[in-house]
Amino acid sequence: MTTPILETIRTRRTIKQFDDRPIPEQEWTAWLETASYAPNHRMNEPWDILVIGPETRAKLRHKTDFGGAPVVLALLSKPAATQFERDENVMAVSCFAQNFLLAAHEAGVGAYWASMGALPHNRAILGVQEGYDVIGIFGIGYPADTPAAKPRTPIAAKISRLP
Ligand SMILES: Cc1cc2nc3c(=O)[nH]c(=O)nc-3n(C[C@H](O)[C@H](O)[C@H](O)COP(=O)(O)O)c2cc1C
Repeated sequence: MTTPILETIRTRRTIKQFDDRPIPEQEWTAWLETASYAPNHRMNEPWDILVIGPETRAKLRHKTDFGGAPVVLALLSKPAATQFERDENVMAVSCFAQNFLLAAHEAGVGAYWASMGALPHNRAILGVQEGYDVIGIFGIGYPADTPAAKPRTPIAAKISRLP
């Protein structure tokens, strides 16, 4: 499935339940590769990806086991010398994350973004070193169910104009 970018952005949904179709590794690594064209300051490419295997996944004790997703990844953002640069890294990895979600969605694959990886006990399970931020843990798979879009505030209400 190929859709124009605006349609891809609008139709992406958080998916919380997946069917049991596997995703070949070469496909999700291709989406990660594409995601790496995200903007990033000084080309520091601050993303690191953890591929979460069954043992680690069980230890995370996620309430729905990531909806039965065939692939579970965590995205980390690298440490930096200053808080300013660390924030920049988080922003760049968030761009990476959205690129990945859109690339997957274009292929008919959905994702569940869970923020639980940032909790101290989950950081320990993932073996995350000090100074890294966990941007999310992502369950990835073919949707068993796609919810309707949640309505958004009209953008005009979010725009302020400066003189
Ligand atoms: C930084 C971030 C963290 C999120 N963490 C969670 C989470 O822990 N659990 C969850 O159910 N959804 C989580 N979400 C997904 C949001 O709930 C979801 O994007 C929002 O409800 C809008 O729905 P949509 O993605 O289908 O448009 C997270 C999204 C972001 C951007």
